[in-house]
Formats: sequence, structure tokens, C-alpha cells
Amino acid sequence: MMPLLEMAERERVKKRLNELRELISYHNHRYYLLDDPEIADAEYDGLFRELEDLEGRYPELVTPDSPSRRVGAAPLARFAPVRHTLPMLSLENAFNDGELADFETRLRRFLNLEGGIAYYAEPKLDGLAVELVYENGLFTLGSTRGDGLVGENISANLRTIADIPRRLSGNAIAAPTARKEEGPQVAAPGLNLPTRLDVRGEVCLTVAGFQELNRRRAEAGEALFANPRNAAAGSLRQLDPAITATRPLEFFAYGVADPGGLEVADQQALLQRLSTLGFKIIPHGRLCPDLAMVIAHFQHLNALRHTLPYEIDGMVAKVHDLALQQRLGAKSRTPRWAIAAKFPAVQASSRLLAVSFQVGRTGAITPVAHLDPVNVGGVMVSRATLHNEDEIRRKDLRIGDTVLVQRAGEVIPEVVKPVVEKRDGSQREIALPDHCPECGARLVRPEGEAISRCPNRESCPAQRLRALIHFTGKAGLDIEGLGKKVMEQLTAAELVRDIPDIFRLRAEQLAGLPGWGERSAANAMAAINNRKRVELSRLLAALGIRHVGENGAQLIAAHFQTLEAILRAEEDDFHHIGGVGEKTASALIDYFADPANREILGQLQRLGLQILPPAPPEQNQPLSGQIMLFTGSLSGVSRNEAKARVKELGGQVATTLNRKVTHLVCGQSPGSKLNKARELGIAILDEEQFRQLIA
Ligand code: IVH
Repeated sequence: MMPLLEMAERERVKKRLNELRELISYHNHRYYLLDDPEIADAEYDGLFRELEDLEGRYPELVTPDSPSRRVGAAPLARFAPVRHTLPMLSLENAFNDGELADFETRLRRFLNLEGGIAYYAEPKLDGLAVELVYENGLFTLGSTRGDGLVGENISANLRTIADIPRRLSGNAIAAPTARKEEGPQVAAPGLNLPTRLDVRGEVCLTVAGFQELNRRRAEAGEALFANPRNAAAGSLRQLDPAITATRPLEFFAYGVADPGGLEVADQQALLQRLSTLGFKIIPHGRLCPDLAMVIAHFQHLNALRHTLPYEIDGMVAKVHDLALQQRLGAKSRTPRWAIAAKFPAVQASSRLLAVSFQVGRTGAITPVAHLDPVNVGGVMVSRATLHNEDEIRRKDLRIGDTVLVQRAGEVIPEVVKPVVEKRDGSQREIALPDHCPECGARLVRPEGEAISRCPNRESCPAQRLRALIHFTGKAGLDIEGLGKKVMEQLTAAELVRDIPDIFRLRAEQLAGLPGWGERSAANAMAAINNRKRVELSRLLAALGIRHVGENGAQLIAAHFQTLEAILRAEEDDFHHIGGVGEKTASALIDYFADPANREILGQLQRLGLQILPPAPPEQNQPLSGQIMLFTGSLSGVSRNEAKARVKELGGQVATTLNRKVTHLVCGQSPGSKLNKARELGIAILDEEQFRQLIA
């Protein structure tokens, strides 16, 4: 018999535990899902500790739904899109010292600079890029990079990472390390944070954390992650933050979207400032007064890399001075002021067991090597690309060969060469196909091309499938849930034969397929409907027209504005799209001349696809509507920088002189354009006037 006093105590504890569970679940919900906590972190921690303490003393009172058994709140249905205020760019790569030297040459030319350039060089962490938004010092939103413009709201998951401050600390400004003499004065220390700060950095798993995670997964009979990067990505994109919370993720800050409001002059000061605000910053960064030091630091990091707790795949060299960074600006996907120096590829040797031939979206036949599984720099590889038939001949590969396999960064593994010394006479020639392995059509190989193609665009099942995967995939309409596996399933079930069929799908059809239920079917239908309003450029990129990628599609869309205009266009019109070359023009002509393709586009519109014109260039910018042409050499800035500034300010840059040009900017020794511009009555600016205009 339990003494009365003890029983009363137990009842009291039981009651308190119930209260605590309810309270904590409520605050989890506010915190993880509504992004709107009601109590301070310390107060929450106090409740949680009390819960754990009581449960520790009364283990029989622990319930399976106790918040101590699961972290966070109920899963989110899916991630909401987040548009980044400034694009999250990627980096150009340098694979050797020569390419780093070229980078410096480009910098000098752009900046019209002869003196030295200082760099800040940091390890390139192999994790996942995220952006954290702080408003008035409070963490309000965290997102993935996504396509660089729009990412996914993963705030709830990021909140489970202890390294990510909920509130920025250190109100005082850290003294800038290199302030220019006549530079702007720092305002009085105090609450000197910009109202909004977008911090960028990398979420990673340590190698040890990754191995431990895989060990647990192996024990539980779950699929293993290939490497720490995949594990970090998989952990962050969990719909249930409770799962993310169990993964040992870390966050390192490397920059901000716009350093403007931070009163710092260079990369090192920026990192120091981020550190004062409460962030971990990437260790082993170094200020390098010149390129020689950058190269030395690269070698140092390469020697160090396997002793570091994290995987790094190279080094990022950044122009140190933020004012220079600002002047250098960015191209469409990459900044001009930074470069990723990649470590040499990791290689391993294996045996070539067989070669199969894959048919791509445009009919290209790609040989694929099947290998004895081998660990290449931490990733198990059993297949590698052989690029094309010529490569097989050039490398003189044979079945049964011992081969060298390499993986460079994120690139698909490739077979480098056979180890000829290891041949024992049992090796066999690789038979090249002359018919399509999927549809049996006779392959064609146009003069001068290295790739054989299946010409059967209309009905080769492999080409159709790949085209559909491209259409719904990231480079196409990016329809969530219609990835490669699902498209394979939908075509095998003959629910989807061509692109318009995707928009004919019905929830009942999907729900009846193996592995599907009503909920997943409804989600897929919602995702499809979501993409029924599509920008013209995205649609063009999705159609899989040869040589038309994202950039080309944007130029084509900007030129024609509507699909109708493209369908009406004459052959000649395709040859006059700014920035689009001859190959693409011919591919467009072929594509739009084909009645089958016109029929597909007609069906899409009849099925309710709304094609949106490209967003108009921003109005009301200082140079909106102005078209500038340059002649002669400028002395203060390079031609490229001048052009970039004009575009940043909303103007356009012409390549030839005609009546549309509004200003001719004349440097030294202008050519014949000057006289012609005078004849046409076009405004003429000298360099000083131009400088004032763009200031
Ligand atoms: S700076 C505007 N610094 O590399 C350039 N990026 O290809 C912004 N990364 O996904 C990048 N370590 O997340 C920078 N020390 C570092 C980095 C780093 C890793 C990642 C970044 C992005 C990719 C760029």
C-alpha cells in the first residue's frame, strides 16, 4: 500500500505534468508553426526542464505524446515560397591557379585598376545555403536558396538549430577594421541595427554527426544518406520540425544580402560584426593582401581539409573591400567579386562491368558505365557517365578494365581512363549500338557531332518520358510532387502520354495508383493547378526546345512578350532576338514550324494554362527608358562597369547606333559614331557628364 501522503503527492505531480504538456504544446505551436512566440526562450526552457525533471522522478507518468518525447509542433503541409529581397547567387568556379589569375585579370579590367587587390579567403562549406531574416533584431523568417530568387520557408526547421539566434545580441557596432580616411563616419554606438537584416550562411552537419545519423538509420533499417550535405539537406527539408530537431545541424554565417546598414568596410569586419551579433562564422578565413596569398591559403586549406570536422569542397575568395564589391556587382547568377576555388577531384579505381546506353530528352545517346561499387571521396559510386561514343574510343575503354573514377564537386562521377597496365587479355571491346535501345529506331549521327541520336522524337518512349520529366521538373514548370519517379509511374500507367495530359489528370485517377492516397492525390492536383499560371519564359524553358535554357527563354520572352507573337513570327524574326545566337534561332524555327508542337501549345491553352507576359522592366528608375551607347575609351571606369551601372539604374545599352538610342557616351578618341549621333540629334555626354548622371 502506498502511504496517503505519497499518493497525494503523486496526484499533484500528475496534474502538474498535464498542465506542462498542454502549455509546452501550445508554445511549440506558436513558436514553430505560427512563428509568433508568446513567452521568452528562457521561460520556455524553464517549463521544459520542469517537465523533464518530473518525468525523470516519475517515469511511470510519462505519456507517449509528451513534448519531451517529440520536439517541435505538428508537421506543416508543405513549405511556402519566399521571395528573397536580393537574389541568392551562386559562384563561378576556378579549378586551377590559372583560373584564379584570370579572375583577377577580370577584376582589374572591370575596375580599371592597376594596383593590388586584397581578398578574404574562406573555406567553402559543403552544406545548404539559407537566408535568415531579422526584423528589429528578431528572427522572423528563414528560407532555402531555392532557385536563387524564390526559396522555401523553412523557419520552423531552422528554429530547431541552436546556432541560429532568435534575437540578435551586441547592440554596439564593432569597430570597422579598415575605415577609409575620408569614409563615412560611424554613427554613435547604440541600437545600431538596420530594421531588417538578411543574414546568409550555410547549414551543415559535421562528418561525425553524419556518421552517427547513418548508424542510427542503419539500426532502424532506414535508407542511408550518401554524404553530410545530403543529410543536412534532407534534415532541413523535413515537413516535421521534430525530425529536424533530432539532427545535429549547425549554422555558419558568411555574409548578408546587403551590408549597407552595418557600417562595415570589408569582409573581415562584416564577419566580425556577424559574430558580435551572435552568429558562428566559418573558421579558417584569412585576409590575403594579394593573389599569391590566396593561392597559398588554398593549398593550406587543401592540406587541412580532411582534418576539419566539416566537409569543405573548396575555398571562396572574395574581394575584401565592400565598396569594390558593390562596384563590381553581379551577373545574372554570380557575383563578379567572388570565386569558388575548387579542390582537385577525388579519384578511386574500380572495374568496368558493363556499359549501357541511355536515351536523353533530345534523343542523345549517352553511354553509362556500370562499375563495381567503389567509395569515391565518401560517396558510393556504381554508375558513371562516359559522355559519348567518341569518349569510349578516345579513352580506349574495354569491358573488364580497371578504371579510374572521379567525382569533382557536385558533378556526376565520370570514368577518367583505363589502367592499361592491369589488362590481362580478358577485356572485351564495347559494342556501340546502331539502333535506339528503347524504340529500335536507327540512330543518326550528324556530321561533326560526337553524339548519336534517336531521331524518333514523336514516339520514342524514352524521349517522351524524359521530356515530360523535364517539363514538370526544376528546369521546367517545377510542379511539386511530379518528380522523376512519379512521372515514370504516370507514364507506365498510361495516364500521361504527352504534356497536355498532365493538365488532364484527375484526383481519382491518381488516388487509385499504388502508393497514392486521397491526400497525396489532392496535393498533386493542387500543385498542378498552381502552375496553370505560368510566365512565358518558364513555359518556353519547360518545352525542352534544343539550346533553349532559362536565360535564352528569358530573352525570347522579353523579345516577343506573348506566345501568340511567337506563333505568328516569321523565320527572320527568330534571327533578330537580342542575345540569342544562330543555333537557338534555328532550333526555335524548327520547333514552331512543327504542327505537332503547335497543337500541344493550343491544347495547353484550351486546358486553361494562362501564359503571363514577362514582368515589365522596373519603371521610375533613374535611367528608365534611356538607351545608351558607348564610344571611345573611358578613363575612370571600364566599359563593362559603365554598362552594368546603366542596367542597374534601369537603362538599356545599345550595341549599334540608331534612332532609338537616347545618349551617346563619348570617351577618348571616339569613332565615327560621334558624327553620326550629331546628325541624328542624339544627346552626347562626355565622361564627366556620364559620371554625374549615374552618381
Ligand atoms: S559566398 C554571392 N561563402 O556556395 C556569393 N558561399 O555556389 C554568395 N558556400 O550555395 C556565396 N561556403 O551557400 C560563400 N564561405 C562561403 C561559402 C559559400 C559555402 C556556398 C553557398 C552557395 C554556394 C555558392
